[in-house]
Amino acid sequence: MAERGLAERVAAANAPLTDPDRNRSIGSGAQRFELYHFALSVCSHKVRTVLAEKNAPWISHDIGILPPLMENYHPDYVRLRMQGGGGRELVGGYTGRSSTTTEGFDPCVVPTLIDHETGQVIVDSRAICEHIDRIWEGGSELIPARLHREIDTEIAIVDGTPHVAVLYGAHPDGDFRPKMLQANMPGAHDFKIMKLMEGRSLSVGHPRLIAAYDAKIRKEAAARHFVASPDMMRQATTEILSIVEALESRLQDNRDWICGDAYTMADIQWAVSLFRLKWLGMGFAWQGGHKLNDIERPHVAAYALRLFDRPSFREAVIHWPGNPPSEFVAEYYEKAGLSDSEPAPKTLKPGEHGRDIREENLTRAVLETMKGARNPRAQKVLNAFTRHLHEFIEEIEPSEEEWEWAIEWLTRTGQLSVGGRQEFVLLSDVTGATARVDMVNHRFPDGATENSVLGPFFVENSPAFQNGADISGGIKGEPMLMRSRVLDTQGNPIANARVDVWHSDDDGAYDILMPGLDGLALRGMFRTDNDGRFWFTSIKPHSYPIPEDGTVGELLRASSRSIIRPAHVHVRVDAPGYHRLTTMLFVEGDEFMDSDPVFGVKNSLVVPYEKKPGQRMPDGAPAPDPCWTVDYDFVMARKH
Ligand code: BEZ
Ligand code: FE
Repeated sequence: MAERGLAERVAAANAPLTDPDRNRSIGSGAQRFELYHFALSVCSHKVRTVLAEKNAPWISHDIGILPPLMENYHPDYVRLRMQGGGGRELVGGYTGRSSTTTEGFDPCVVPTLIDHETGQVIVDSRAICEHIDRIWEGGSELIPARLHREIDTEIAIVDGTPHVAVLYGAHPDGDFRPKMLQANMPGAHDFKIMKLMEGRSLSVGHPRLIAAYDAKIRKEAAARHFVASPDMMRQATTEILSIVEALESRLQDNRDWICGDAYTMADIQWAVSLFRLKWLGMGFAWQGGHKLNDIERPHVAAYALRLFDRPSFREAVIHWPGNPPSEFVAEYYEKAGLSDSEPAPKTLKPGEHGRDIREENLTRAVLETMKGARNPRAQKVLNAFTRHLHEFIEEIEPSEEEWEWAIEWLTRTGQLSVGGRQEFVLLSDVTGATARVDMVNHRFPDGATENSVLGPFFVENSPAFQNGADISGGIKGEPMLMRSRVLDTQGNPIANARVDVWHSDDDGAYDILMPGLDGLALRGMFRTDNDGRFWFTSIKPHSYPIPEDGTVGELLRASSRSIIRPAHVHVRVDAPGYHRLTTMLFVEGDEFMDSDPVFGVKNSLVVPYEKKPGQRMPDGAPAPDPCWTVDYDFVMARKH
């Protein structure tokens, strides 16, 4: 596709931005600037204050960057913003700041400025502020050449302040933030990631956009980790306190503004920063009287009052519609008579998303219908299911016959799922879904024994045995001895743990499928002794095929896959205070080890079963002679 012109890109980005309260012209005269910003964002505060200070007319798109709107994640907005990226490296991680200098280029944030006269798209608040000051004649010069270096230093300090971290995260020793943040911020990063995934799904076929979404998703995942880390949050707060302390000492000589007598760009930056800190409940950084800072900083306090009183700042930040007060700055809003300035969020009327549906807006239309889900988990699940299903169809472009066949195949799979035969479970197993669910639920620490799939042959309440018992139930085979211990990750024995074991016979059959067998065999429940030990004898298991006479068999044959599970003994261990361990020990050397149809094999679970003469049980009793011997210690992960 040919590169689209800027006007076309802007028109595409503006198409969904139809709310007249948030998309409007400001000031009079030719609108050279078009700005995408957000009522509440500090970087947007800076640019709006510069525009007000310079008296420049502009087109305002106050886009919602919080749930549920997230208009900044719309592919057309991201595509427009990418045009201003200038090949810069995409954002890599997260340090709780918002400057593009420290964070890299974030393709999904505000502000973005279009200068229609130069044809530029500018994507960093600092560059935008400097650009407007440089080319707009009105108002006073905000970066006079004589103060250039000093102003630069101040801007860099404000830019490097971790405002974002203290907005999203709670201080581990007491959350000082406004009540509305305490209530709404937990889970915000998950929601962002979900919305980004939605934007990503809508961008299939556009590799640059996909890369942009992927980078942003990585950043938000890192952010989630950052704000959940007590150390990182403590460090961010401490850093802010020392930035304010240093500001106090720079203001000692009682000058009006930070770089002397003139109000400059540096003051705009500080106005925004100090107001945000106050709004967040961090006014104690200069007011003192708080367990995190007891020292008053009178020069910063007086400077803040001067900054907050500046008409351009009041117009662009305090009076700006949709920039709600917190309990910590109510006084400034009361003064302006604007305490309730937040407009009610707009909600879609039922059916508003159901009109004029075509290929390019179908997924979005379906997703819109799910926004009303009252249970956030249900919304997340339905949203992801819809996105992936649509993406799947887009990718394979099935014919109608194929789609009908697929539905008929799934119907047969359901019909086969009755009683002990659960074809859907088997489908989950052979597609790796069971293994994946197992993995996301059992991320045990290093050193702990790895989990694996449970399988269909586990039986609740299998017979209890004393250590040393033979559990073969008289089924013929080569004798096997298992000698094990159950330990914690420090190597201490866990006594009285409950251990369930079950396995196939030397033909690969499980007891519950053996015709004519009365009762259970090749399974049992043990308790570990005071040294964490358990032991038993049985017969050596054999590899076996999973059921192949149903729809899953059709699937496996269609891809010429093996249906044989390598030989193994299943073990499940339960002990109070520890995560349940469900695993299996595979017989080293089994020829099917590398093609397990249910993806349960992990190297750490492949162990030697060695045929040895003269073996003894741990209590000294003789074992069958010779016997296949397996010695293995299970290590359990403690619950926190
Ligand atoms: C099993 O090892 O018992 C098993 C696991 C998944 C599917 C079929 C069998
Ligand atoms: Fe098995």
